[in-house]
Amino acid sequence: MGSTQSNFVALKATALCVLTQIITACIATESTHTHGARVELNFNKDWRFAKGSQTNSHTPEFDDSAWQVVRLPHDWAIAGPYEPRGNPHTGKLPWQGEGWYRKRFVLPDAWSGKRVYLDFDGVMAMPTVYINGQKAGGWDYGYMSFRVDGTDFVRFGQTNVVAVHVDTRPHQSRWYPGAGIYRKVKLVVTDPVHIAHWGIFVTTPVVTDSTAEVRIQTTVENHDSALQLVTLQTTLVDPGGKTAGRTIQTLSIGAGQQREFIQQVTISNPKRWDIETPHLYKAVSRVTVSGRLVDQTETTFGIRTFRFTADDGFHLNGRRVQLKGVNLHHDLGPLGAAFNVRAMQRQLEIMKDMGCNALRTSHNPPAPEVLDLCDRMGILVFNEAFDKWDGTATKPKDVSIADHCKKQLYNFIRRDRNHPCVVVWSIGNEIFDLEGGKIPNGPALVRELVEFVKLLDPTRPVTMARCIPDSAKTPLDDSLDVVGWNYARRYELSRKNRPWLPIIYSESASAYSTRGFYELPHPKCKDDYSLALRVTSYDHNSAYYSDIPDTEFALMEQDRFVAGEFVWTGFDYIGEPVPFVAEGWSSFKKRKLAPEEESRISLFGIVDLVGIPKDRFYLYRSHWAPEKKTVHILPHWNWPERVGTNVPVYVYTSGDSAELFLNGKSLGRKFKQPTSTNVMDRYRLRWEDVIYEPGEIRAVAYTSGRKLGEAVVRTAGAPAKLRLTPDRKRLVANGDDLCFVLVEATDMRGNLCPLAMNEIVFEVRGPATIAGVGNGDHHFPAEFDTNRVSLFYGKAMVILHTEDATPGTIRVRATSPGLTPAEVTVRSVLPASRLR
Ligand code: GAL
Repeated sequence: MGSTQSNFVALKATALCVLTQIITACIATESTHTHGARVELNFNKDWRFAKGSQTNSHTPEFDDSAWQVVRLPHDWAIAGPYEPRGNPHTGKLPWQGEGWYRKRFVLPDAWSGKRVYLDFDGVMAMPTVYINGQKAGGWDYGYMSFRVDGTDFVRFGQTNVVAVHVDTRPHQSRWYPGAGIYRKVKLVVTDPVHIAHWGIFVTTPVVTDSTAEVRIQTTVENHDSALQLVTLQTTLVDPGGKTAGRTIQTLSIGAGQQREFIQQVTISNPKRWDIETPHLYKAVSRVTVSGRLVDQTETTFGIRTFRFTADDGFHLNGRRVQLKGVNLHHDLGPLGAAFNVRAMQRQLEIMKDMGCNALRTSHNPPAPEVLDLCDRMGILVFNEAFDKWDGTATKPKDVSIADHCKKQLYNFIRRDRNHPCVVVWSIGNEIFDLEGGKIPNGPALVRELVEFVKLLDPTRPVTMARCIPDSAKTPLDDSLDVVGWNYARRYELSRKNRPWLPIIYSESASAYSTRGFYELPHPKCKDDYSLALRVTSYDHNSAYYSDIPDTEFALMEQDRFVAGEFVWTGFDYIGEPVPFVAEGWSSFKKRKLAPEEESRISLFGIVDLVGIPKDRFYLYRSHWAPEKKTVHILPHWNWPERVGTNVPVYVYTSGDSAELFLNGKSLGRKFKQPTSTNVMDRYRLRWEDVIYEPGEIRAVAYTSGRKLGEAVVRTAGAPAKLRLTPDRKRLVANGDDLCFVLVEATDMRGNLCPLAMNEIVFEVRGPATIAGVGNGDHHFPAEFDTNRVSLFYGKAMVILHTEDATPGTIRVRATSPGLTPAEVTVRSVLPASRLR
């Protein structure tokens, strides 16, 4: 469903004022949206939480006063405790078990007769929702949004208690899934006649330069005991806020029935949604009964054309667009799985800066706000429903794959189908049992699911991410519109057997690196991993089945029939910390690791867990964003043990060449070699034989003979002081906004100390708290939810959370024994209006 965020209507009419007063009195601190007779309440504050089975806690009279007060979104496991001997594959965090959430709320008497719904964006996992002691609903897939109809369970004019039981035990995961009500919750109160949940579907069947036909399909429910004559007026609003068209239709809807309105509006000179110009329209739906406004919603949509072609990749608005995509898991580093809009926006900003234009929501439905952000930022989305169709999809044993998947897909597609950013639905990732032929009637099952998706949305193609090349010989892909292949040009056979089937490189690279760590000599081959249990940032390593970025760049330049690549992954994520695990796939082979030696955070990211770019970031930026001036040198220049011996220097640049200087002396100019048999030399400039001496290493980059820019790295002296750099200086005092403050150690002259591992303590004064800390170390043997962190190769991050409704100056101070402390101030200001 499109965003209702921008539609926070000032409550001017007297009746609505009265309503507001009642709401304010009842739920003093919640923010409210009213649309016609619809009221949408932010339902995230003042919950109580306890871990464990908590006998009788679903009953209204249960005493929860000793429970922890939490604000949603909440992930109970990210606070730890860190389990040194825990399961590395899911991040050594206590996510498995039961938990309970409870909240009291009052519904005014005046709302008697209204419908009351609770909309959950995601609960990990298996939530059961009780209202006033009675089971009102639940869901069976932790990544999926769902609605609970509370109408028959609530009491108006009285205090109600909602209790949510969460049980992650039946859920399986190959990464850190989080635990609890980790996405937002809304309380929605409507008239008995109202627009159905996710009941609007806006499509644009005909789009030309001069006109666009907009089709609006709206389901309206009548919960009244009498037939109603219902009028739906839909107004289209253009990106500038002007009315672009309007249509009205009246239908009778029987008692307890629902009906679909189909409306069509032609608008002229449509402004296209595109990656550079993500123009967004709105459809404002107003439902009246006998002239009385009973419901109003807004749906954001975009006007664009696109198609996946067999021979020329992906076309958007009539031109080929190379997908430069990343896979992102859902966790937000030190914040865990608890969704936060600003944290996600920052991830996407960092990815966009690198030249990324596409996101694969690996391997599950994202928080709905992720798609709002992608709509606004012009990022194309490969929207994926499942990783496997078993325990990772929390499929109950006694339910068939088809039934379980369809139930999830029904919500998934209806929830996300209005987002212009979404260009392909994926019904699964690497379903080995299917590709290996273990699931009976596999091709028929795929067809059944594809057809089901098409019933819900005939406008978008359906795909699956595949990994067993030989399965391309089977009829599995017969019903897919586009096929995704993961790694190592495994799409080759598919291309040969089905030349008509468009291809996406749904996972590429799976390269490894540890930010700030360099080791010599270079690894002998891509899966020669270091006994230091870190991976060199010279970018030579990948998983054994995959490749370094350069190989994938070359493939994408050669295979223009492929729509583009989705790199595994944009950011490091919690869990799946291969190869530094003792057991499981891709475990470390050089010796058996003790549990304490195993890492807990993935190494695949182009950017580390806290958002600090690894060197690889600049390799991608150089190639993916050639219009930007990128000049980046690696490694650091602090090698006292290698004076007089060689330290290779690499330059990642968007230029075609660079000259390197060591202490002012030229080490020669190198050019990228587009036809070199060594792919590295096509995309990076390498001086392998530099003889190390301390001082300054400088690269001057050129494009077609014109200077593009330069970069310098200096040998740093001993760590002397700390430096704090906030990502933003002005925050919103809404309890949700975040400030990411980078802490670094420098020498007396301000040079970054690239080997510093000092322990830092933070002190925060003013209206903010610490939301988490981290440093990008994939072993990170500490808590995220604390006020101290070690620098990791000179850098670490503290994340501040603003307080709700308390503006003011926030002071952060960082101290470390022997170093000059640093302090920085940022301001938190009241929001112009509530965003949620
Ligand atoms: C893929 C898989 C991803 C991730 C990746 C690591 O095969 O689809 O979820 O595990 O490998 O390289």
